[in-house]
Amino acid sequence: MEKPLTGNFRSDKQAVSLEDYERAGGYQGLHKALTIAPADVGELVKKSGLRGRGGAGFPTGMKWSFVPMGKDAPHPKYLVVNADEMEPGTFKDRALMERDPHQLIEGVIVAAYAIEADIAYIFLRGEYVCSHDRLERALAEAKTKNYVGHNILGSGYNLEIHLHVSAGRYICGEETALLNALEGKRAHPRTKPPFPQVSGLFGKPTIVQNVETLCNVHHIVKNGPDWFRGLSKTEDGGTKLYGVSGKVKKPGLWELPMGTPMREILEDHAGGMRDGLHFRGLLPGGASTDFLIEEHLDTPMDYGNVQKAGSRLGTGTMVVLDDKTCPVGMVWNLEHFFAQESCGWCTPCWSGLSWTEKILLAMEQGKGSRQDLDTLTFQTKFLAPGNTFCAFAPGAVEPLQSALKYFGDDFRKHVDEQRCPWK
Ligand code: NAI
Repeated sequence: MEKPLTGNFRSDKQAVSLEDYERAGGYQGLHKALTIAPADVGELVKKSGLRGRGGAGFPTGMKWSFVPMGKDAPHPKYLVVNADEMEPGTFKDRALMERDPHQLIEGVIVAAYAIEADIAYIFLRGEYVCSHDRLERALAEAKTKNYVGHNILGSGYNLEIHLHVSAGRYICGEETALLNALEGKRAHPRTKPPFPQVSGLFGKPTIVQNVETLCNVHHIVKNGPDWFRGLSKTEDGGTKLYGVSGKVKKPGLWELPMGTPMREILEDHAGGMRDGLHFRGLLPGGASTDFLIEEHLDTPMDYGNVQKAGSRLGTGTMVVLDDKTCPVGMVWNLEHFFAQESCGWCTPCWSGLSWTEKILLAMEQGKGSRQDLDTLTFQTKFLAPGNTFCAFAPGAVEPLQSALKYFGDDFRKHVDEQRCPWK
């Protein structure tokens, strides 16, 4: 990753072998990190401007700085990799794990060292069988080279890494639900604060970090924070894996400078819309984000600029809506997924989302009413942060609230004509 890659990832290719990884400079970031004090590794990451790539974009170095350090810190401390990638339209972590498992493992070791963690868990989505097999093999290889285990490379630092397969729920991607699942409990989110940095897995200091985030860490240590900042076009440091799905000519995934404009990603990399179709909008970060439309095409795709445009970068994997696809049907499909995935813990979420989904289905089947439109608008306001236990339901209604704003005529046509105009 000396320079940003712009190739299209294909997950059916072989994983990079340990030999090739090392030949390309792999594990040099770890060698270097072990010569630096753990807290100073965290400082490098802080200066680099790396923000969490799981969707929320929280500054990574700052997050690590909340972990108690030094001889009085409670142990064991944990690093948990959130590899439970279930955001609809999102397939970036899968590409990283299938194609370059050692890159993740090196990132895990360096991040664990920086917070003086004793144990790391990779919490992996159950369906990611290929990722599992490749990570398992890579972990065994890393152990034989003493990159993992006791007295790593003679540094005195010890780290165990375990691969844990998720039983499979979207909410397991929420960090505190994930920790409950890892402890063998039901995957309900916990109240925050306390944040996991001080009281996480088994009540001990824990950092939960996304796969893509960790894949950047050792490159920062090896090449320096200024190098990392220089890779980006905007304030947020580094590169980003951007994905595009929907009816574009070349759906795919590309590593590009952070802040690459949406138009460039769609037209130069995804090849533009398929012949005969026009762009109507997209969800920038998987499903749980607000639609952006044509007027936003020149938005630099980073955390701040996408927020200014009225949405969130989320996972950076865009789902495109074209002019021959029904927006009501598309949103129903998403709300159907979210209603199914509600953990059932709080009533506004489980009841509100299933109600929302049923109304959208009725509209799509030509049975909606004008009053239903008011109910949908009410739900998007009611399922807001503060009214629900966690961020799941507020995220789930983001595509609906922006679809009502940008594609309101389509919703009205469904109820006035008592049919889906696309059928
Ligand atoms: P969040 O903003 O609550 O937390 C993000 C991270 O920052 C967490 O590690 C949290 O501990 C830390 N943090 C936040 N505020 C803090 C504070 N005041 N003090 C200390 N640490 C703090 O976001 P959340 O709920 O963890 O993630 C939501 C995002 O996840 C959404 O943006 C969504 O796009 C994304 N998502 C991604 C999925 C995927 O498959 N990659 C699946 C589902 C959601």
